[in-house]
Amino acid sequence: DDHIPSLGYAWTHTGFLDAFDAKAVRRGYQVYKEVCATCHSLEKIHFRELEGKTHSKEELIAMAAEIDVVDGPNDEGEMFERPGKLSDPLPKPYANEEAGRAANGGALPPDLSLMAKARHGGVDYIFALLTGYCDAPAGKVMLPGLYYNPYFAGGAIAMPPPLQDGQVEYADGTPATMSQMSRDVSVFLNWAAEPEHDERKLQGFKYLTVLGLTLAVTGYYKRFRWSTLK
Ligand code: HEM
Repeated sequence: DDHIPSLGYAWTHTGFLDAFDAKAVRRGYQVYKEVCATCHSLEKIHFRELEGKTHSKEELIAMAAEIDVVDGPNDEGEMFERPGKLSDPLPKPYANEEAGRAANGGALPPDLSLMAKARHGGVDYIFALLTGYCDAPAGKVMLPGLYYNPYFAGGAIAMPPPLQDGQVEYADGTPATMSQMSRDVSVFLNWAAEPEHDERKLQGFKYLTVLGLTLAVTGYYKRFRWSTLK
């Protein structure tokens, strides 16, 4: 895995007390939904988990209701379609692996739920990959259907460059440059891989605070109790 440098991008959520940038998570969901979801699933995330993160509950109920979900079997033993609800996972682009490969020249777009954890470099890798497409160096032969990207192992990836300037329109007015969308979707995918991230840091902070206070009180008490023996 030595093809991924330690990039050290200036994320706002990686410090030990930093939470995710909520607006970036919301914009990143939009990029995922409008661009990446054409090819990639995010099967570990259910609509309800987005509540208070990217959208309000009412928005999510409406978003879920727009998709058709196959459910069943019912009392007659038949499968049926119903509108999506909050407990459903985000919709997958392909019915199965064969369909996914058939649509992508044999390569399978992986599920992105844990991608920010799965690859060496984590969220830095995702950002580097999305922004890293360039011309292949002279002499490198590229097979048809593969694109040069120095951050991908081997340098030849079956994913066409997914983001171009202005591809989405952000409701908050943020200019949708290629790098801005790459940053936002990277933050969103990092959130998806660690939905407990903010709560974990908050609880860790509380734990350390209480531990520190307890230590101080215990230390003071010990000095006081032992003072007659010294
Ligand atoms: C692979 C992210 C859009 C098709 C990947 C990988 C990531 C990724 C992280 C894994 C690379 C690795 O294995 O290390 C994204 C993001 C997208 C996006 C964040 C949206 C901004 C798309 C779209 C398509 C696509 C629109 C289809 C047109 C693929 C394919 C692979 C892949 C086929 C497998 C590549 C290979 O194994 O050579 N993508 N992707 N992706 N993606 Fe995407």
